[in-house]
Amino acid sequence: MTSENTHAVAVAPETDWDAQAAAFDDEPDHGLRDPAVRAAWADRLRAWLPGQPADVLDLGCGTGSLSLLVVEQGHRVTGVDRSPAMAERARAKLAGRAEILCGDAVAPPVERRRFDVVLVRHVLWALPDPAGVLRHWRGLLRPGGRFVLIEGVWGTLAPVGIPAARLTALLAPLTGDVRVERLSDDSVLWGKDVDDERYAVIAAV
Ligand SMILES: C[S@@+](CC[C@H](N)C(=O)[O-])C[C@H]1O[C@@H](n2cnc3c(N)ncnc32)[C@H](O)[C@@H]1O
Repeated sequence: MTSENTHAVAVAPETDWDAQAAAFDDEPDHGLRDPAVRAAWADRLRAWLPGQPADVLDLGCGTGSLSLLVVEQGHRVTGVDRSPAMAERARAKLAGRAEILCGDAVAPPVERRRFDVVLVRHVLWALPDPAGVLRHWRGLLRPGGRFVLIEGVWGTLAPVGIPAARLTALLAPLTGDVRVERLSDDSVLWGKDVDDERYAVIAAV
């Protein structure tokens, strides 16, 4: 599937994330245990995030691997995950260095707080109404804020995900500058060669 395929939107299978939590970090790009993989994600995040300390909302934060990298770069992180088991692991990983909330990323339980960055990796594609969700998340950003969305289309026989072209079309009415960075060619990020569509979108509001 290519990024030109704007109509191929997969419906996510219902995944039991609590059941996935214990083994989630075994994947190289999840646990970031390999120093080379970890450094590759740290370098990308440094380029995508503001140069000054910022308030970052990591939605669907999973076990908190990206949240930890972001905290290590001097930012203040709030993580949200609907799975209690994932949130518990994130709390353990962050060890008090970030606030981890258990709740729905569709309507994060952050009350009236606003953020400089909405960071989401591998979550948006599986939500039932990405357009509506992006509109809500746009309202959580301060003026001058940005989206950092890392998504893709996985698999070849029965691909699932959201193509970059569709995501950028959804962001167009909500944001100003939208930049797509292709991640498929950087095998270090994934701990292996990949040939499906993987990308980050950095969109300023
Ligand atoms: C593929 S994992 C990605 C985790 C993390 N973003 C990362 O990149 O390591 C998807 C995560 O999103 C969470 N999730 C899925 N739907 C959610 C929702 N509606 N609200 C909050 N979290 C959700 C799952 O519990 C799981 O932890």
